[in-house]
Amino acid sequence: MPDFQAILEGLYREAMNASDKGTVASYIPELAYIDKNNFGIHLKTADGKDYGAGDYKKVFSIQSISKVLALSKAMELIGENIWKRVDVEPSGHPFNQLALLEIENGIPRNPLINSGALVIADILVSNLQNPKEDFLNYIRDLSGDDTINFNTDVAHSEKVTGFKNYAAANLLKSFKNLNNPVDDVLDFYFHQCAIEMSCQQLTKAFFFLSNKGNCLSNKIRLTKTQAKRINAMMLTCGFYDEAGEFAFEVGLPGKSGVGGGIVALLPDNFVIATWSPGLNIKGNSLLGMKTLEKFTTKTKLSIF
Ligand code: DON
Repeated sequence: MPDFQAILEGLYREAMNASDKGTVASYIPELAYIDKNNFGIHLKTADGKDYGAGDYKKVFSIQSISKVLALSKAMELIGENIWKRVDVEPSGHPFNQLALLEIENGIPRNPLINSGALVIADILVSNLQNPKEDFLNYIRDLSGDDTINFNTDVAHSEKVTGFKNYAAANLLKSFKNLNNPVDDVLDFYFHQCAIEMSCQQLTKAFFFLSNKGNCLSNKIRLTKTQAKRINAMMLTCGFYDEAGEFAFEVGLPGKSGVGGGIVALLPDNFVIATWSPGLNIKGNSLLGMKTLEKFTTKTKLSIF
């Protein structure tokens, strides 16, 4: 077994010394205040051991990482019916691209790009009694941690600047692929993205996807097949037009967010989360991707 703690500490030191730390997202104004010198990494192994370095206990905006958990909740609620409204193909385009949505008659390429996540948000708004509260409780329950919360300043900041998401939601509505009012779906979506979690909390929340659908408390959240489908989705679509690059360099299913977080996992082995707020040109954490590449190279632990 590799010395995980020593490896994480080494990766942390290398990240702290990196000359290029990327650019913090500013299109959601509230995210622009985050210091790009933050860096956290946390690993949770299948046998329940934890290893961490740097700012792994500090919370940050999970943003698009929430799309995976929204998808898993929607799968729990309506199962395969999801795929009548969203496809399962990589888009090869940025997360907020609209052109394909119009060409493909309002059926988003996959649930991890913004338009697909809006359809999933619509499903949750239709099927949960108190959508925002119930979804937050779902994540708290998965993580076994009641302290997890929304950052309402971030949700509001995106609400007043999220013009492309308004455009996507209106386009979906025009194709009759949104059942609830545009404003209700967007309010839910902006809040799910504005949930704050640490690397440590993310590894707990995503544990069930590395454990055949059974979460940390051993409760069955999804079937083994459903967990497999979500992992496939992360591998092929988790990094938008950089999904190929992440599979090529890192070799794990994973998901990024513009808050600078990345979660990745090796089924039956581990979940790992990194946080470095500076992004690369494709909107994925620059040092997060580099660090995970080094992690799978050093440990020789990847799906390939
Ligand atoms: O919808 C948006 O633009 C943001 N709330 C989330 C985007 C995001 O995290 C893309 N991920 N890399």
